[in-house]
Amino acid sequence: MSEPQSTLTDRFGRRITYVRMSVTDRCDFRCVYCMDEKMTFVPREQLLTLEEMARLGKAFVQLGVHKIRLTGGEPLTRRNVMQLFNDLGHLDGLNDFTLTTNGSQLPKYAQQLKDAGVTRINISLDTLDAQRFADLTRIGKIEQTLDGIDAAIAAGFDRIKLNAVILKNRNHDEIIPLVDFARDKGIDISFIEEMPLGVISDHDRAEVYYSSDDILRDIREKYDLQAIGATTGGPSKYYQSADSDTRVGFISPHSHNFCDDCNRVRVTAEGRLLLCLGQEHSVDLRRVLRANPLDDAPLLAALQDAMQIKPKGHEFDLNAKPILFRHMSATGG
Ligand code: GTP
Ligand code: 5AD
Ligand code: SF4
Repeated sequence: MSEPQSTLTDRFGRRITYVRMSVTDRCDFRCVYCMDEKMTFVPREQLLTLEEMARLGKAFVQLGVHKIRLTGGEPLTRRNVMQLFNDLGHLDGLNDFTLTTNGSQLPKYAQQLKDAGVTRINISLDTLDAQRFADLTRIGKIEQTLDGIDAAIAAGFDRIKLNAVILKNRNHDEIIPLVDFARDKGIDISFIEEMPLGVISDHDRAEVYYSSDDILRDIREKYDLQAIGATTGGPSKYYQSADSDTRVGFISPHSHNFCDDCNRVRVTAEGRLLLCLGQEHSVDLRRVLRANPLDDAPLLAALQDAMQIKPKGHEFDLNAKPILFRHMSATGG
C-alpha cells in the first residue's frame, strides 16, 4: 500500500484516522436516550446519495483514514445500503470497516456484510428483559436484536461488541447479566455513559446518570476485571478477567474524558462534516461534492481545511440544558 499524499492532522497535533458516517437518521427503534417520541427526520432528498457517500469514504481513505464505521440511525434500514458496503469494502488502505447497528436487520444482512468486507460489528443491547427492551426502544422487539446477534456470530465476524447505555433505575441492575450474556456468546461488551444530545422528554439525564466507575464496581463483585491496553481506535477503555476472552469496555465521556487522543470525525447523513460529537463546528460537504462532481481536488482540500476548526473537546454537562439540538440518531453515534 502506498502512503497517502497527505494526512489529516488538526491544530492540536491529533491525526484523524477514523471516520464515522451516518447512512440515515431514520431508525426502526426509538430508544429513549437517543430520540424523542416524535421525531422529524431529514427529508430523503436532502440525504447524500449512496454514491456520494462512497466517494466521500474513498476521499477520506486517500487522506490516510484507515477506519470507517457506518452508523445511523439504523444504517441497515436505508434502501440498497449494501451498495455502499460493497463500494467501500476491500478498499486498499481501509483496514477496519465497521458497523454500528441495533441488530434488527442482521438476520437478513450479516452474511452479505461479511462478504462485502465488513471487519467488525457493534450491536446495541441495553437489557435482556423483553418488556424492558420494548420500553427502552419504544417499538423494538428483543427477538429481533437477539436473532441479529446470533446471525452476526454465525457469519464469523471478529470481535463482535455489544453496546449498553446504562441508566440508573432503568437497567443498572442488568449490568452483570449483560456481562454474563456476552461471556456466554463469546463476544465483547461496552458500557456507555449517556450523553446529552438533543432534547428528550423521557427522563432527566442527570437523574439517571450511572458512571463507568459505578459499573466497574458492580461487575467486580462477580468478576476480577483488570485494565488491558487493547484499543480498537475507539473511545472504549477495555478490561478483561483471566477466565474469559470477553473484553468489557467503558465509554466515559463524563467521568474519564478521552478528547485528548481523539482520532475521529463524523459525517451526518446530509453530508455535514462534524468535527466533534459534542460541538457544532462543521463543514457542508454535500455542497462541495455537488459543486465538483468530477473533480476530487476541492473535496480533498475541504477535508484538510476542516481540520483547522476541530475543537479541543466536548463540554457535556448533564445538569445544563442540552446545548445541542442534534439527537444521536442524526449525528452518527
Ligand atoms: P469500536 O471501534 O468498537 O471501539 O467502536 P466505538 O466504541 O468507537 O463505536 P460505537 O459505534 O460502538 O460507539 C459507542 C459509543 O461511543 C457511542 O455512544 C458513541 O457515540 C460513542 N463515541 C464514539 N466516538 C465518540 C467521541 O468521539 N466522543 C464521545 N463523547 N463519544 C463517542
Ligand atoms: N448517549 C450515549 N449513547 C447513545 N447512543 C444513542 N444515543 C446515546 C446517547 N444520548 C448509543 C446507542 C448506540 C451508539 C451508537 O450510541 O446505544 O450503541
Ligand atoms: Fe435507533 Fe440506535 Fe438510536 Fe436506538 S440508539 S433509536 S437503535 S439509532
